[in-house]
Amino acid sequence: MLHVDEATLRTVLNMWGPGKYDAVLFVDGKVLRPDGKVAANLLPAAFGLKGISLTTYTGWGNITYWNSFVANLEMHGKGNFSDPRLNDPVKYPIAVENHLCNVMNSPDLITPKLAALRAYQHSLPAPKPPMGSFGHQKAGKGKALFLTKVKCASCHTPPLLADNVLHTAEEIGIDDFAAMRSPTGKYRTTPLGGLFTKTKGGFYHEGRYATLAEVIDHYDNHLSLKLTPQKRAIWKNT
Ligand code: HEC
Repeated sequence: MLHVDEATLRTVLNMWGPGKYDAVLFVDGKVLRPDGKVAANLLPAAFGLKGISLTTYTGWGNITYWNSFVANLEMHGKGNFSDPRLNDPVKYPIAVENHLCNVMNSPDLITPKLAALRAYQHSLPAPKPPMGSFGHQKAGKGKALFLTKVKCASCHTPPLLADNVLHTAEEIGIDDFAAMRSPTGKYRTTPLGGLFTKTKGGFYHEGRYATLAEVIDHYDNHLSLKLTPQKRAIWKNT
């Protein structure tokens, strides 16, 4: 499908690194970002998704859409899948070549399983941070900032800490490369439940910010928050 030999494919897959995956490569063939770094994303959280209507960092569809996409197109299960957005020769040349916008199999072994799969995924709650892993007083102050002055909650709206809305790259102050690989052209607000589990791989879709402190610095600059050194300290230390 990709018109490359196996050795080349293995080289690309080995470039992804731990915890990363590129779910779009097999439809658009893009290996590298414009800055030359590998175009793979951190695996998004599989928990805390009840009430989240946009699946993947760039909001391809709901979880049932995405399960069907993966089962039919990536895992080569036998089912029915249809998405006219993949019939775009400029954006998704490999999908067009392989008619991936409309896959039909009889019998359809995938569709009847999707409701149970979604029920299971929606039953997984976001884990709570371990006792003693953060300071309650500082967390309380940080929460107040998050909800009011700093306006994080205008997008990361409680209780899911997400708004189920897509945002442009400009709105959040990053490049649009990954967004433009999606039919939506945008980024969805990441739900922040269980965020402590992500400290290994970094934050944002491809882990561009290694620590939460870097995320805060980014928003401080981009949203001109003008956080005082004291307020930044609250956010940066646990
Ligand atoms: C305009 C809407 C918007 C505002 C305001 C906003 N965010 Fe975000 N946030 C997003 C989007 C969209 C993403 C996903 C970016 C990506 O994955 O590349 C995100 C991602 C994040 C992530 C990374 C989550 C992960 O799992 O990698 C953190 C942490 C975060 N935001 C915290 C904050 C904080 C703290 C504030 C307030 C200072 C804030 N956000 C304000 C839209 C917003």
